[in-house]
Amino acid sequence: MRSLSLPLPVALSLLGSACAFQIPFLSTPDNHPGKHNTIFSTPTPATPVTSDELEQLINPDNLFRRAEQLFEIAKLSIEEYGHPTRVIGSKGHLGTVDYIYSTIADLGDYYSLSNQTFAAVTGNVFESRLVLGHEVPKSAAPMGLTPPTKNRGPVYGQLRLVSHYGCDEHDFESDGKGPWIALVSRGICPFGTKSANAGKAGAIAVIIYNNEKGGVSGTLGQPSKHHVATFGISDTDAAPYIEKLKGGHPVDSIAFIDAIVDTIRTTNIIAQTRGGDPENCVMLGGHSDSVAEGPGINDDGSGSISLLEVATQLTRFSVTNCVRFAWWAGEEEGLLGSDYYVAQLSAAENQRIRLFMDYDMMASPNFAFQIYNATDAVNPAGSQQLRELYADYYEAQSLNHTLIPFDGRSDYDAFLRSGVPSGGIATGAEGIKTAAEAEMFGGSAGEWFDPCYHQLCDNLSNLDMVAWEVNTKLIAHSVATYARTLEDFPKRADNLAAKSMTAPRNEVYHGHKLIM
Ligand SMILES: *[C@@H]1O[C@H](CO)[C@@H](O)[C@H](O)[C@H]1NC(C)=O
Ligand SMILES: *[C@@H]1O[C@H](CO)[C@@H](O)[C@H](O)[C@H]1NC(C)=O
Ligand SMILES: *[C@@H]1O[C@H](CO)[C@@H](O)[C@H](O)[C@H]1NC(C)=O
Ligand SMILES: *[C@@H]1O[C@H](CO)[C@@H](O)[C@H](O)[C@H]1NC(C)=O
Ligand SMILES: [Zn+2]
Repeated sequence: MRSLSLPLPVALSLLGSACAFQIPFLSTPDNHPGKHNTIFSTPTPATPVTSDELEQLINPDNLFRRAEQLFEIAKLSIEEYGHPTRVIGSKGHLGTVDYIYSTIADLGDYYSLSNQTFAAVTGNVFESRLVLGHEVPKSAAPMGLTPPTKNRGPVYGQLRLVSHYGCDEHDFESDGKGPWIALVSRGICPFGTKSANAGKAGAIAVIIYNNEKGGVSGTLGQPSKHHVATFGISDTDAAPYIEKLKGGHPVDSIAFIDAIVDTIRTTNIIAQTRGGDPENCVMLGGHSDSVAEGPGINDDGSGSISLLEVATQLTRFSVTNCVRFAWWAGEEEGLLGSDYYVAQLSAAENQRIRLFMDYDMMASPNFAFQIYNATDAVNPAGSQQLRELYADYYEAQSLNHTLIPFDGRSDYDAFLRSGVPSGGIATGAEGIKTAAEAEMFGGSAGEWFDPCYHQLCDNLSNLDMVAWEVNTKLIAHSVATYARTLEDFPKRADNLAAKSMTAPRNEVYHGHKLIM
């Protein structure tokens, strides 16, 4: 593992040989995830877990075999969606939840296993169109969780420039002269607030233009009865209309969004070791769901499977501290599962969680070894120790790493907000690999870390097996380290006084979409 100049051939050889490995696996009872063995009961294993031993049990063929199973499960959605997906509410996601549940249940009574079902808001935009004057702005995109336009049909109105940022209801004023569509700048407050204010003032639709470069891929967040159909557009697309409106020229506009916003029920799965001190839990999570566009084998099939393998191999050892694994649902809709979980914790239960580690996207094909830049300066005390654990590991393997913003894009967010020290690693999504990063990790500069991010092609071909193996071993190391001892890890009580508990977090992300 010294050099990363080999990843492509290694990955290809693993892909090619996966089938050949299937038979020997299935004949090994320990490795057989599909077997229901009802009388099997694990005696409390006597050997205390060590990083080395747990890491050695991580096998890339096991990971890939599970990825194949997950892809088959994603295909259960084809009938309804026309392609494989594991989006919440789909058969592919229900199958994923069943698969995770039965894999852990088959391990006997080493874990106590629970389901946490919650209501999740989902949105689906079937069709949309925006016409300003006689033009269709190219960057126009309906916001996530937008309601449809009236009667799910086109609506006509005069474009009206909104003063300030639309964060106050009074920024929007109707002139009483017929239907109007609000044009408002991004900034200061969430998109959802602007849309609700526009709705209250009687606008029939809202267009939020970027106050930075580029388009706006955002979501309205928690639905409100005041929300109206909302688009995002880029700064450059908006500029000519802002000028026209400022010059007193009218802009006739047409907005059309056919969409539904629906509430469904979906499920987090939590598995906690029966062994280990339950007052001091080491927690880690990945998300079980994908976006609707594809099967999500890297995002986050990879992290979900890494957790399943580590949970499976951990059963051979005893732990000092309890270890709690979570597979979150609704991450792609805005971190719904992890938000719900943290919100349901009593203060005492919250304090039992000593740390949380997030594992989302472990195997991007054009990967970088990324560590969330978790620091004690702005996060609960102990977060920085997690960052250092990951950095030390890569260094010990002579591998490079980068630090990336810890800005609310994955399931650690609710934990941080409630004072739980957190950290995590990733391999990159839609970010572009720089030339320097290509030197550090191999791969292609100028391309996305995951060229299939949130797309149909996030399938079995979209996994870098070398990165996945390294990162799953690192996950094993993180679990073994803290399952053994938390002696040098800051106590939770110390965090109560920390400014990070009360400091407002001013993140523009909550999940992968912008919220403001
Ligand atoms: C929990 O969810 C799994 C997977 O969907 C299901 O098989 C099981 O019956 C559920 N258990 C309970 C107690 O609801
Ligand atoms: C990491 O975060 C700290 C603040 O907490 C900041 O000072 C530092 O520049 C960040 N490092 C990187 C590489 O982003
Ligand atoms: C780490 O990055 C340096 C460039 O910064 C590169 O020369 C070296 O080969 C990289 N190491 C590995 C293991 O890829
Ligand atoms: C995965 O996606 C790639 C790119 O679209 C495609 O070539 C390949 O056939 C797909 N693999 C499977 C197993 O569907
Ligand atoms: Zn993800």
